[in-house]
Amino acid sequence: MQTVKTVQKLREKIHHEKSQGKRIAFVPTMGNLHDGHIALVHKAKSLSDFVVTSIFVNPMQFGQNEDLDSYPRTLDADSDKLIAAGNNLLFTPTPEVIYPQGLERQTQVIVPFVTELHCGASRPGHFTGVSTVVNMLFNMVQPHVAVFGEKDYQQLAVIRKMVKDLQMPVEICGLPTQRANDGLALSSRNGYLSSQERKIAPTLYQTLQQSLQQLKNQTHTPETVAQEAISTLEAAGFSVDYFNIVDSETLQPATVSTKKTTILAAAFLGKTRLIDNISL
Ligand code: PAF
Repeated sequence: MQTVKTVQKLREKIHHEKSQGKRIAFVPTMGNLHDGHIALVHKAKSLSDFVVTSIFVNPMQFGQNEDLDSYPRTLDADSDKLIAAGNNLLFTPTPEVIYPQGLERQTQVIVPFVTELHCGASRPGHFTGVSTVVNMLFNMVQPHVAVFGEKDYQQLAVIRKMVKDLQMPVEICGLPTQRANDGLALSSRNGYLSSQERKIAPTLYQTLQQSLQQLKNQTHTPETVAQEAISTLEAAGFSVDYFNIVDSETLQPATVSTKKTTILAAAFLGKTRLIDNISL
């Protein structure tokens, strides 16, 4: 696996592969790779002839009081995992490469509507940071297909909308959430959990499963499902940011005419913010 740090080197390498007729798949990440990321690389391999993974901790998507500085940077271990997974090219730009004029002067990509609720409401500016950097990375890599995890359900919806609205010639593939044996969604932020919090953390997914069952059985209204779930989570020690029952496509609150329903949840365990989702 070759590692490149500049856009020029990246473009040269990809141009060479494309000139040989190869189909390029792209996996954008912020590093600190776990089995969830590696599953994205395996999926990307199954969809292409040449896989490019990027590792870039994107400052634009972190709020002022968020964990940008403490976000784990584990490049050597990440490289080893990518080599073992059969990744072909690793792109590791610095912030100066991505934002040469600084964040303030950077042109931004704003995706409306789908960003308004849920994480968009709790983390103002977060999705503009995501859509801006993903747009730039797509322009740099110019992949045929890009693979994202469904754990970040709203992020995937934002990227799908950006690609559709801006007529970007890239196929977006979503991969189901990878979980630990006890159901906890794999996430780089799980590493922040204390051993006690780690024991409590699977309650988030268990509660989502329970709520889904209640919706299926039609024993509760969506409002009472959400209220009960929030009480369960708070009793277990979570501080709930949101627990929202939504239309899977629009991410607007589900109504009687909603065809497909998804439950989106975010909750803090101590200082760690966990997100997860489940679909009917
Ligand atoms: O999901 C992530 O790791 C990041 O939001 C992404 C898509 C790599 C953009 O920085």
